[in-house]
Amino acid sequence: MKIAALADIHGNIDALEAVLADLERHRPDTIVNLGDSLSSPLAAGETAERLLPLSLPTVRGNHDRALVDRPEADMGDWEAPAFRELSGAHLQWIRDMPSALVVEGEVYMCHATPQNDDVMWTEELLPSGHFTLKSQSEIEVLAEGISYPLILCGHSHTPRTVMLSGERILVNPGSVGCPGFSYNVPFDHKLEMANPFASYAIIEKTEAGWQPTFHQVRYDSSRMVKIARDGGYDEWANVIATGRVG
Ligand SMILES: [Fe+2]
Repeated sequence: MKIAALADIHGNIDALEAVLADLERHRPDTIVNLGDSLSSPLAAGETAERLLPLSLPTVRGNHDRALVDRPEADMGDWEAPAFRELSGAHLQWIRDMPSALVVEGEVYMCHATPQNDDVMWTEELLPSGHFTLKSQSEIEVLAEGISYPLILCGHSHTPRTVMLSGERILVNPGSVGCPGFSYNVPFDHKLEMANPFASYAIIEKTEAGWQPTFHQVRYDSSRMVKIARDGGYDEWANVIATGRVG
């Protein structure tokens, strides 16, 4: 059994295409999408048109929810430009997404944590504006009641595997389309992968247990960078081009 885990595509259709092409050599049994698929000033409409027919098992992320739970006037600058590209069918697809799913009988998937779509499961933001790894007990408590041996999450855009009690492993594949960001709530902070590659993970069931392998796919990001730059989103352009905020 081989699972391909994609997360945080964020409307970057060219990164998504590169990952889908790369997946052809791995031939996974199942491809799952851990949410935050569309929100960004990049190519939300094109990304939705590509994803809908694939019918991947998909959970709703905080940035997906923000496309359907508030009026456009209240949307932030990740959602507003995406929302303008989306059709009624695209928005209904988002409304119909579950917050968590179990696939293949033993793989649990959610966007951020089982309890909340906007809390990083394994990273904690420090007052310095940097992220650190949470303690084992802080991570474990969020997995209480989830007995599946493979647990998948996204949201922090940070590829990582954490061993949990009971022979469980928690895997975050990193972000397909957004290798960094800055934000000012609750205070100024930023996350940077320091590379612009499209990140995903393959997790294979072996005799020793679930084996994750992380992939970083080089792709031509120039079209996405130009869209961001032309739209006046210089930080997005910098992140997509370099993996650095600026
Ligand atoms: Fe998210």
